Amino acid sequence: MTDTNIVSIARLADHVGQEVTLRGWLYNKRSSGKLHFLEVRDGSGVVQAVVFKGDVSPELFLAADHLQQETSLEVVGTVKEHGKIKGQYELQAKDVKILGAPSREYPISPKEHGTDFLMDNRHLWLRSKRQHAIVRVRHAIIKAVRDFFDQNDFTLVDAPIFTPNACEGTSNLFQTDYHGDPAYLTQSGQLYMEAAAAAFGKVYCFGPTFRAEKSKTRRHLAEFWMVEPEVAFMNLEEDMQLAENFLSFVVQRVLETRRPELAILERDTKMLENVKAPFPRITYHQAIEILQQNGHPEAKVGDDFGGDEETVISNKFDRPVIVHRYPMDLKAFYFAKDASDPSLALNMDVLAPEGYGEIVGGGQREDDLARLEGAIDHHKLPREAFEWYLDLRRYGTFPHAGFGLGIERTVSWICGLPHVRETIPFPRMLNRLAP
Ligand code: 4AD
Ligand code: MG
Repeated sequence: MTDTNIVSIARLADHVGQEVTLRGWLYNKRSSGKLHFLEVRDGSGVVQAVVFKGDVSPELFLAADHLQQETSLEVVGTVKEHGKIKGQYELQAKDVKILGAPSREYPISPKEHGTDFLMDNRHLWLRSKRQHAIVRVRHAIIKAVRDFFDQNDFTLVDAPIFTPNACEGTSNLFQTDYHGDPAYLTQSGQLYMEAAAAAFGKVYCFGPTFRAEKSKTRRHLAEFWMVEPEVAFMNLEEDMQLAENFLSFVVQRVLETRRPELAILERDTKMLENVKAPFPRITYHQAIEILQQNGHPEAKVGDDFGGDEETVISNKFDRPVIVHRYPMDLKAFYFAKDASDPSLALNMDVLAPEGYGEIVGGGQREDDLARLEGAIDHHKLPREAFEWYLDLRRYGTFPHAGFGLGIERTVSWICGLPHVRETIPFPRMLNRLAP
């Protein structure tokens, strides 16, 4: 195996006219008489290696005719600019070494496969062009998320995965045994970020979160990644500004850096170009009116919104819309109440356009000790497990706010995917724990 001039496909432009070595897998193959066209992928891209009968030994030319899809191989050849397509390159092959020939026929062919089959073969499906593009967009989103908070003076504070606390209600908790005591897989790092905000001012966490969702929808995962900023001395209004600036930054960054991937996904980017702050804001009550006037006459105050309702509401706007001040009864225990109407929470949800639904949920937290104790009792949560959290109100309580953005719903929206199952490398859903 030669070690000289090993390059990745993404870097071929720097090597035009040179002899290079590529390592990768055979993605596709066509032949015509004296030529074999090997489509090779190496993770960084795909390139066509042209094997001309006159350039290689007769044995190699024959072997190249029998290469199977997903054979791992090493190709030595000269980098040429594509005759017709600018910015594309091909390799004039001089040698091809087979590193690993498949022991069976590769199960995923270019023909259509059913979803269950593809999900069962997720470990292989990740190699295909669309899945590759989605994971690359996901990476860009996560990078943009971190850059935004880094550039705005936030400190990263990691939240634990095992927790004694139910942050988002007790109905969808994954319970485990923690050396004899019950523990839960975290639903949200928020309570820990509230503690961290008192130590660092502006903080965020980013990690996996868990919901034992019994619902089988196109937007629910059992394990998903959430980014959660929390800021000391911030109110609901400023929280909404943070969310819209943050989302605008992330979407515009993806448009700057991932056009080729969005093109592979055939994503129409018109609506994404619009994602610039400020976003329209409506109250929950206005959202109910929109529903009543648009095919949901039965909608009434007190209803929670499902995917259908969120789609009707968001279709009225050309960019994400912020819906704020939901009834307290619909919301988790930790929200502050609106002083002008204590039946309303100082919360906000951001609904993505084009029917992608809620991608952000957050708001201002209850900072009064007695009211928070009342809320914990009202929600029938065990007081002992929350004593440490109540300490934050005992020792220098402070107004504060934050939110959580679900990465997979954001990937789904930005990529234009109908279901979240393709937005995470190995999805965990109601009926799926493997591979
Ligand atoms: O609205 P949620 O439940 O809010 C919280 O967990 C807050 N504690 C966050 C905070 O204020 N720090 O979840 C936030 C976001 C949702 O808007 C959605 O994008 C995503 O997390 N999400 C899910 N994504 C995929 N599958 C699920 N089962 C999800 N549940 C929530
Ligand atoms: Mg929510």
